[in-house]
Amino acid sequence: MAEYIIRARKAPTDPKKFLGAIGAGSHVEYLAQIVVNTLFVSKGHRSDTTLTLVLEDAKDYSKAITLDGASLGSIPDMSESGILLTISNCLKSAIALEKEECISLDNGIEVQAISFEHLVKVRLETRSVFLLDKKADDIRDCTLPDDAVFLLTDHIPMPRKTFKSLRRQGVQNVSLGPVMLHASQCVVLIQNEYDRATIV
Ligand SMILES: C[S@@+](CC[C@H](N)C(=O)[O-])C[C@H]1O[C@@H](n2cnc3c(N)ncnc32)[C@H](O)[C@@H]1O
Repeated sequence: MAEYIIRARKAPTDPKKFLGAIGAGSHVEYLAQIVVNTLFVSKGHRSDTTLTLVLEDAKDYSKAITLDGASLGSIPDMSESGILLTISNCLKSAIALEKEECISLDNGIEVQAISFEHLVKVRLETRSVFLLDKKADDIRDCTLPDDAVFLLTDHIPMPRKTFKSLRRQGVQNVSLGPVMLHASQCVVLIQNEYDRATIV
């Protein structure tokens, strides 16, 4: 099962601030596009795909919100505002989480109080992790395991220090071509690579 981890550095973890940030420069509205493009296809959803949004504008801990394609039927309103409201409600339920604590909500979504760096470290223990980087080797020249994890940022580039540290830890950089795309568009192209390799 492939997983996409999106680092959203300016996205508030406070539920009210999160909703207030829509259209106000934090680009939280892109998160709704990422949810749709990662987990939905025409007349269905990708039950073999997971999306984790790491919201980092926090008073205490970053919050990692994990949506599992297998349990997505439970999101009541799939419009952009409906998705953002669902995320805000998840944040409300997770407001009191202590460091590294995790809760599973009734709609199948999980929220964990964990930093992006720590989350990546945990994934690296068992899985191959790829960092999206326009200047890296082409994804078509890489072997992609079914359970690969892909790291993307929103509109703010990954800090140089993190970039180097991820490389040192064994994260492989991959490119999707010469054009700088939105994260939601990157996900579609990666899914397409999987679709072409597995569906005949
Ligand atoms: C909108 S981009 C980030 C833009 C940001 N201003 C920057 O310069 O990195 C969002 C994510 O998509 C990835 N991305 C965009 N185009 C790409 C490409 N052609 N190949 C690989 N990754 C790409 C970026 O690496 C980043 O993780």
